[in-house]
Amino acid sequence: MTVKPYTSEGSKKKQVAGMFNNIAPKYDFLNHFLSLGIDKIWRKRAINLLKSKEKPLILDVATGTGDLALQAHQRLGCQVVGIDISTEMLKVAQEKIEKRGLSDVISVQEADSENLPFDDNHFDAVMVAFGVRNFENLNKGLTDMARTLKPGGKMVVLEFSKPAYFPFKQLYLFYFRYILPWLGGAISNDKAAYTYLPESVLSFPDGQLFDDELVEAGMRPVKRYKQTMGIATIYLSEKPAQ
Ligand SMILES: C[S@@+](CC[C@H](N)C(=O)[O-])C[C@H]1O[C@@H](n2cnc3c(N)ncnc32)[C@H](O)[C@@H]1O
Repeated sequence: MTVKPYTSEGSKKKQVAGMFNNIAPKYDFLNHFLSLGIDKIWRKRAINLLKSKEKPLILDVATGTGDLALQAHQRLGCQVVGIDISTEMLKVAQEKIEKRGLSDVISVQEADSENLPFDDNHFDAVMVAFGVRNFENLNKGLTDMARTLKPGGKMVVLEFSKPAYFPFKQLYLFYFRYILPWLGGAISNDKAAYTYLPESVLSFPDGQLFDDELVEAGMRPVKRYKQTMGIATIYLSEKPAQ
């Protein structure tokens, strides 16, 4: 059964957009606080996989408050287009971009990963951090991302995964199931959002199962990089040259 933020009825997409609209003002603080800042290191590692001689044009899917897009520009000197379905998350992203004077190199717009408003074979690389788990239709999202990527282009997906080994697995699951929803709920005033987080992670196809999803979407998995005992995984894949 698909895990949704608020109720089992209705569209997941609408509920996800509503949830991120609610938590947008607190999102950055909670992200770094609840992960003890480790999320920044994971994003940096994901971006490093996209280093190239040329300055690439990159699509950042589910850009949210724009952290991955901003870091990618800082590290790679690239141009980034960010898309998201949450207006409020995008407002925070836009403010950050303007504050840093980067409007000419980073742009954000409202769009759905499952129906991207870009031509085929347009981007040099596509990236997404903590977004794919929230898609209503994972295959549709990955397939459309692959469509907009140039043949031979890289796709990098950073997503939570499930740690496998005792005792870290048990300790982490305790934190994830009991402490995080309580802390996140108290600070964001949206307890459902931080109950949805562990539920959606635990039901998400990670590891080899996610690589299978990439293959279904027309991508060629290259390598998986487990982060911090498997709490998160970076999936690197390539669009086959036609
Ligand atoms: C956990 S946030 C991640 C934001 C950002 N990438 C980061 O690293 O912090 C997930 C984002 O995915 C967006 N999202 C969910 N489904 C989407 C879809 N179908 N198309 C575009 N964005 C989507 C949400 O609105 C939200 O901003």
